[in-house]
Amino acid sequence: MTLDHENGVGPTGYDDCANGAGPIGYDLLVVGSANADLVIGVERRPAAGETVLGSDLVVHPGGKGANQAVAAARLGARTALLARVGDDAHGRLLLDSQRAAGVDTAGVLVGGAPTGVALITVDPSGDNSIVVSPGANARLAPDDIRAAGDLLARARVVSVQLEIPLVTVAEVARTLPSGARLVLNPSPPAPLPLDVLAACDPLVVNEHEARFILGESAGPGPEEWAQALLGLGPRTVVVTLGAEGALVAGDGVCERVASPRVEPVDTTGAGDAFTAALAWRLGQGETLVAAAGFAVRVGAAAVTREGAQESFPRAEEVGDA
Ligand code: RIB
Repeated sequence: MTLDHENGVGPTGYDDCANGAGPIGYDLLVVGSANADLVIGVERRPAAGETVLGSDLVVHPGGKGANQAVAAARLGARTALLARVGDDAHGRLLLDSQRAAGVDTAGVLVGGAPTGVALITVDPSGDNSIVVSPGANARLAPDDIRAAGDLLARARVVSVQLEIPLVTVAEVARTLPSGARLVLNPSPPAPLPLDVLAACDPLVVNEHEARFILGESAGPGPEEWAQALLGLGPRTVVVTLGAEGALVAGDGVCERVASPRVEPVDTTGAGDAFTAALAWRLGQGETLVAAAGFAVRVGAAAVTREGAQESFPRAEEVGDA
């Protein structure tokens, strides 16, 4: 197993300031998954026991963690990724995509298992169904987090999702440097320890994730879900509402933020782009409402193009030059 040191990093394993003034900080450190997305377009996503014919197979770089890192870097954030990929062609595809976007990949571990793979079907409405084989993502261990203490110490915001082991996410929450902010998108959803929930600022959920976490106690709508989720410990909560935008809650606000209307082509990765944009702008000191207002524009732009990382906009495309 090796660390990825091929991108011109300094002796510490991380990029150093060109002027020798010391190590750079990161606007955003993403700790999460990296998958090769194997995508097939279909007229209709298959039901249980059904076989459908689809388009030619396309392979895109994806994974919720890798997607967030590319989305943030493309918007202009100084971004690093802590992840694990296999020593294989899919791993190289993912590293190339990160580097092309300007992400610092010094924290990407290579080897131990094949790169994660996501099997994705996309229908004409742009909706998808996804099955993930975690592969190397499942081997990103708490020890890897402890070994990357230097990387964590340089991050203003740390963003995690649940395509890596929950114990690893819990270690991130436990070792988060004081002053750094933790953003968690619990996708795919799993029962969350109270100390992880309490560290979130914000917890970012869609309807499915909110209902999973709240179970039978889930109220009738996003306002009720947000209040109930705040009661579990996060300082702030963001409920994403697809084409309707998002609801933000906490710090004395509970407010809906509308999304621009767009013609959806492929929703894959749009939530990742939203969360990355939100996390970055919160780290820049914006309010939750303002950061979510930017993030809904980024998410909306991402659904107008195919694929995940290829679909993510630059800042100037969302009116933020
Ligand atoms: O959120 C979209 C991502 O989910 C895809 O890129 C796929 O890899 C799965 O992780």
